[in-house]
Amino acid sequence: MSPPCLTTPTWRARSPRPRSAEVARRCPPCSALSWRLCSITSSCAPATLPCFLPDSEDPRMLKSPIPIRRPLRRALRRLKLGASATRHTLVGRPEVWQLKRDFQIAFLRAQGLAPDDRFLDIGCGTLRGGIPVIEHLHAGRYTGLEVRAEVIAEAWRELEAAGLEHKDPRLIQNSDFDALGLDHRVDVAWAFSVLFHMTDEIAGAAISFVGRHLAPQGRCFANVCLGEAPDGSWQGFPVVTRPLRFYEQLAETAGLTVTPLGRLDELGHPAHLPDASQVMLEMTPRKA
Ligand SMILES: C[S@@+](CC[C@H](N)C(=O)[O-])C[C@H]1O[C@@H](n2cnc3c(N)ncnc32)[C@H](O)[C@@H]1O
Repeated sequence: MSPPCLTTPTWRARSPRPRSAEVARRCPPCSALSWRLCSITSSCAPATLPCFLPDSEDPRMLKSPIPIRRPLRRALRRLKLGASATRHTLVGRPEVWQLKRDFQIAFLRAQGLAPDDRFLDIGCGTLRGGIPVIEHLHAGRYTGLEVRAEVIAEAWRELEAAGLEHKDPRLIQNSDFDALGLDHRVDVAWAFSVLFHMTDEIAGAAISFVGRHLAPQGRCFANVCLGEAPDGSWQGFPVVTRPLRFYEQLAETAGLTVTPLGRLDELGHPAHLPDASQVMLEMTPRKA
């Protein structure tokens, strides 16, 4: 097998920037991925086989005007997208909004989400993932929880725009998992890009909530950032990286068992996005 190309990159000053179509490609021999074109040592790839490195690893970035131009380009793209882009910004970068929507429904369908399942979307946001799920489910089967009132308001607009009011989803503004109780158990609980935006205390309360509401054969899926790193922040929420043991302990307290299903890119998430390395956890009720 070829050695991994990231170890010995040599850079070509004349390499063109990758066009968007190239962005998602991986280096065929070594599978390295990112969005910056490099040329690599002969052990890895001839010039015809591009390999991509993250911006932070690209020496050209030191002198490049791109870091200044990129936010401008993003802002222009958002302007072009208009009101819906403003809505999409509430749950992440609008540029990846469609990819994130597509991944969520594809993953849940692959896991066997049935139209009759009772579905709980924790941190449902503006229904980026929720709309295709609501479409797939029978009426009255979807419940979304969201902490921000203005985001719930946008979620209702998104539902209306999709013409799905007849599916009668429940959207609940919730800021305290310990005080919240649903009148039914759920077959599938889903927390997409949510657990790592919670403080440890809130994550514990959310997982306990799942433990109290999951049906005996129910399953909860949640993607997390595994490892150890200082906390970051996003729209007033933390961005936390925790070892698997952390989630195992919270789940154990809630009567659940954790099984890591794999990295997102192994589960169909676009590999060129940085989130691809997040891990999808499955939590199920512990068997007696
Ligand atoms: C990155 S967004 C993801 C939204 C949605 N799951 C999706 O994929 O489109 C994270 C969402 O979690 C919500 N959130 C964060 N903490 C929460 C909490 N304690 N309870 C409910 N929602 C929460 C945020 O307001 C935000 O809308």
